[in-house]
Amino acid sequence: MATPVWQARWLRLIVAAAVLATWWQQGNSQPQINLLNRGCSQYNATNSADFFNNLNATFSDLRTQLSRGGGRRFATAQQARSSNPAYAMVQCRNYMSQPDCLACYDAAVSEIRLCSAANGARVIYDGCFLRYESNNFYNQTTLPGNVQICGNRTAPQAATFTVEAQALLRDLEVATPRINGYFAATTRQVSNGGNLTIYGVAQCAETISQTGCEDCLTVAYGNIQGCLPNADGRAIDAACFLRYSDRAFFADNQTTDITPFLGGGGGGNSSKKKAIIGGAVGGGVGLILILFALFLWYKFSRKPKAARRSNILGATELQGPNIYSYKDLKAATNNFSEENKLGEGGFGDVYKATLKNGNIVAVKKLDISYSRAKADFETEVRLISNVHHRNLVRLLGCCSKGSELLLVYEYMANGSLDRFLYGEKRGALTWKQRFDIIFGTARGLAYLHEQYHVCIIHRDIKPSNILLDNEFQAKIADFGLARLLPENQSHVSTKFAGTLGYTAPEYAVHGHLSEKVDTYSFGVMILEIISGRRSSDVNVDSDTEYLLEEAWKLYDTGMHEKLADDTLDANEYKLDDLKKMVEIALLCTQSSPSSRPTMSEVLVMLISDSSVEKKAPSRPSFSYGNRVPVMNTSTSTGSSTSNATASISQFTGR
Ligand SMILES: *[C@@H]1O[C@H](CO)[C@@H](O)[C@H](O)[C@H]1NC(C)=O
Ligand SMILES: *[C@@H]1O[C@H](CO)[C@@H](O)[C@H](O)[C@H]1NC(C)=O
Ligand SMILES: *[C@@H]1O[C@H](CO)[C@@H](O)[C@H](O)[C@H]1NC(C)=O
Ligand SMILES: *[C@@H]1O[C@H](CO)[C@@H](O)[C@H](O)[C@H]1NC(C)=O
Ligand SMILES: *[C@@H]1O[C@H](CO)[C@@H](O)[C@H](O)[C@H]1NC(C)=O
Ligand SMILES: *[C@@H]1O[C@H](CO)[C@@H](O)[C@H](O)[C@H]1NC(C)=O
Repeated sequence: MATPVWQARWLRLIVAAAVLATWWQQGNSQPQINLLNRGCSQYNATNSADFFNNLNATFSDLRTQLSRGGGRRFATAQQARSSNPAYAMVQCRNYMSQPDCLACYDAAVSEIRLCSAANGARVIYDGCFLRYESNNFYNQTTLPGNVQICGNRTAPQAATFTVEAQALLRDLEVATPRINGYFAATTRQVSNGGNLTIYGVAQCAETISQTGCEDCLTVAYGNIQGCLPNADGRAIDAACFLRYSDRAFFADNQTTDITPFLGGGGGGNSSKKKAIIGGAVGGGVGLILILFALFLWYKFSRKPKAARRSNILGATELQGPNIYSYKDLKAATNNFSEENKLGEGGFGDVYKATLKNGNIVAVKKLDISYSRAKADFETEVRLISNVHHRNLVRLLGCCSKGSELLLVYEYMANGSLDRFLYGEKRGALTWKQRFDIIFGTARGLAYLHEQYHVCIIHRDIKPSNILLDNEFQAKIADFGLARLLPENQSHVSTKFAGTLGYTAPEYAVHGHLSEKVDTYSFGVMILEIISGRRSSDVNVDSDTEYLLEEAWKLYDTGMHEKLADDTLDANEYKLDDLKKMVEIALLCTQSSPSSRPTMSEVLVMLISDSSVEKKAPSRPSFSYGNRVPVMNTSTSTGSSTSNATASISQFTGR
């Protein structure tokens, strides 16, 4: 097991050294062989001699095509007439010079050979990608396993950076499919940021259709937003690539004028006015680029290893979630024994399972009677298992036996947030950790609502559905499961509809569903996180007041500091920060859904230095005297309800 990893590391180092050497000789060049992903199919070719012949022939064909004059940066080649056919594709980012492109390609060939006799594999670098399969894959657009790869440095002026980077990426998403050759590189000045520039690149494989390119970039755009407000990020997929950074990774004279491609029906809602061409990197480009490449190299060459192994894009035979055998899961949970029980969720009990390979996972035994066709279940599970975000619990696979449906998730050692707020670990969280949990949850929700290609409304946000990883990062559990419920299931009569105390009034009372339902529950949860109190518990000191009601009272009278958890050290946080949190919570719990912020607006409020916008929260007009909020008159339903029921069949199976 250990040997291939070592070989891979050494080989990469040797290749890197070789490439570095050539690169010095060539002056300015930069092959950009920072490895983002390598994946090998789990199946070997049936006849390896025949297969290697074919593969070698396609690889040399690709190299010949890239070496020709005319500056080709894309090529396909195949040896199809054989029982072990090979189809291969290479693409360099268009900003790469021809020698750099060839250097990147050569590195990719060495890297991909580490997959030995696998009948399919791919290698993705910053500068190029290479893939081969035993079947024709040239028209594939987006595949399960598409991911974002984020740098860990927060951008300077994070709030403005986020907004501008989103605009830049959106422009790239709209323009690139319309550009001949499907490539665009552009920059954008952060408006009030002095000399801060954002660099962005988008590219699609030339063999797919314009619609295919649009589809792929839509998914990539959704994924890459999970990286913001970090200073750099990338999204990779079968047929496209998207990247942004606050540092230059292409030369000034390589930018594309995308302005002509933004107009028209594509909804280039971001400002077309300033797709600024040009950047701020001046004179000594060579040295800067070299230092920058070295920096990137050190920064990324180790870290993505874990990610690479768990997100094997190249396992193309395996589309969708893993299917686990019932027998294995039963054994892994010791016949679903009580000792292995981790908890009882809204959708069924959860068990800790130790698989044969030693991996620990969490298995959820769904206790819903699933009336729809099984194919439908698999479609939904596939949709959920394609959601990859660092603040969302990863669904690894599923299992069904008769009417029993099981879901397999990654295991979170620290368990759920409620234990840390008012359970046995009460008082263990610092202010910083609490802030990070709030921020992470907001980021996960923004992704589900606005950035994933289907809007997913959670409907049951509360601390017991927020799991914590080893570093106390928040991961939202159970998202997407509400979609499994029969459509006619009443929102009130079921325990899945949400949990009273967290449920938005318009949903609890009228069943009006929109993403603002989650905003509301999130607001209640903020109050619980800062106070360490349950929203439904009555404060013994004051006369029967629920948390939200008390928060209003204290905020109105300027005594919001009384809300802070007694277990928090008062030196850990600033009163202004506490006030800001209370204001955000109160904004999120406005009675009219349309006056609640969207989750991406919440993110901007959380990271901006100034206090919450002028929009002071206004006190809701209903009473919290009962556990079920009573609406007094007509409810405003400003938000769309249609998203919730969007059919997913149109999105999957691309
Ligand atoms: C594929 O081939 C490699 C090396 O030839 C071998 O180590 C591996 O076990 C094979 N895998 C399968 C699934 O046969
Ligand atoms: C294919 O190329 C690799 C690397 O150059 C070489 O080791 C191998 O022998 C070649 N295989 C065949 C069948 O030509
Ligand atoms: C892709 O090409 C294959 C054969 O080349 C064809 O069967 C398949 O329908 C195509 N898929 C799309 C989405 O065009
Ligand atoms: C970023 O990652 C590197 C390497 O993994 C680590 O050394 C560094 O501390 C991280 N920086 C931050 C701000 O987390
Ligand atoms: C420009 O960038 C440098 C560092 O890159 C920074 O020190 C300087 O303050 C910036 N100038 C402005 C006006 O923001
Ligand atoms: C871009 O600038 C570099 C020097 O920085 C130069 O070598 C190269 O030829 C230029 N490319 C184009 C297309 O003008």
